[in-house]
Amino acid sequence: MMSNIHNCLINKDVEYNPIWFMRQAGRYLPEFRKIRQLNKDFTKLCLNKDLSSEITLQPMKRFDLDAAIIFSDILLIPHVLGQTVNFFNGQGPSLKTFDMDIFKSNNLEILEKKLSPVYSSLNLTRKKLDKKKSLISFVGAPWTLLVYMFGLKKDKKNNEDIDKIESKYNLKKVIDDLIKYLCFHIEKQVRSGSDIVQIFDSWAGLIPENKLIDYCFEPNKKIVNYCKKLKVPSICFPKGIGKNYSDFVKIVKPEGINIDYTMSPDWAKKNLKNVCIQGGMDPKILLGDEKGVLNEVDKYLSTFKDTPYIFNLGHGILPQTNPSIIEKIIKKVRSYKP
Ligand code: CP3
Repeated sequence: MMSNIHNCLINKDVEYNPIWFMRQAGRYLPEFRKIRQLNKDFTKLCLNKDLSSEITLQPMKRFDLDAAIIFSDILLIPHVLGQTVNFFNGQGPSLKTFDMDIFKSNNLEILEKKLSPVYSSLNLTRKKLDKKKSLISFVGAPWTLLVYMFGLKKDKKNNEDIDKIESKYNLKKVIDDLIKYLCFHIEKQVRSGSDIVQIFDSWAGLIPENKLIDYCFEPNKKIVNYCKKLKVPSICFPKGIGKNYSDFVKIVKPEGINIDYTMSPDWAKKNLKNVCIQGGMDPKILLGDEKGVLNEVDKYLSTFKDTPYIFNLGHGILPQTNPSIIEKIIKKVRSYKP
């Protein structure tokens, strides 16, 4: 059976707008916080197949969403490749320093073994999920993983940082090695029941223009092509690249493209062709009054009314979000008539 999101991504259905949210399983949900309180080690929680499946299904129990996204993290890849990841009380992730010898000592068998709980969690979740609903799996794109692996500063286009790591390492080789692991991880997730892949390049906006091809377009394209070989549709999220979204879509050719909250929906509609558009609305708006939220939802739905469009945000749901607003957004999307 074809899921609603497949129908949008593959058949380019313009009548029905599927809906799901980035970070729909997370800290804005009291039932997540309860589990999180009892599980202080975040990566361990991601690698607990039963709890990961339970958390994945939490938003599905509350809301009528078109997809579940597996509860995991993009940083599990560097974690299992030897750069232990820690989350110290709300400070964001901290990784053990990159060590080329450790990085090179890995292989696919090690990765498969260490990530096997993710695959079991997907299998468990797929069994419990309605057939019409998609089960989304994901990876971080190589550049975004490198930002964490090398501890790059996250201020705008820090060329010095990049020059430093380029002079120290063969970055293209590191990226190609990462692509090998990411594609393997995708294949395993798809074989375990995932039917859509999202590729998060959350820090693509830090890449200097003249390096976008090497560090963003090419790596994303290799991963998208691998998904095509597996016959699984993919959605890319090269956050922060502004007008370069247009070249991204032409070169990488994913089935879906998630626009970020800095982009004008009108610009996206005009410039992103032959692709299903997803997301865009600023998650900060969800912290404001209901009327403002619903007006904004309306703006996205009417802008994209005659193109295939999956409703989502321009980045993840913020922890301060009241879950009741999610319910209201879904109702609005479901009842929308252009
Ligand atoms: O979307 C979902 O509900 C699925 C689960 C998911 C998580 N992380 C769980 C999580 C997904 C898709 C991710 C992706 C992810 N992780 C990205 C790409 C998307 C983006 O946000 O740009 C990135 C950059 C990360 C790395 C990461 N993980 C950071 C920076 C942080 C800390 C700050 C934050 O945003 O929460 C995490 C931790 C994390 N990953 C949490 C969750 C639910 C919060 C953990 C906690 O309870 O403290």
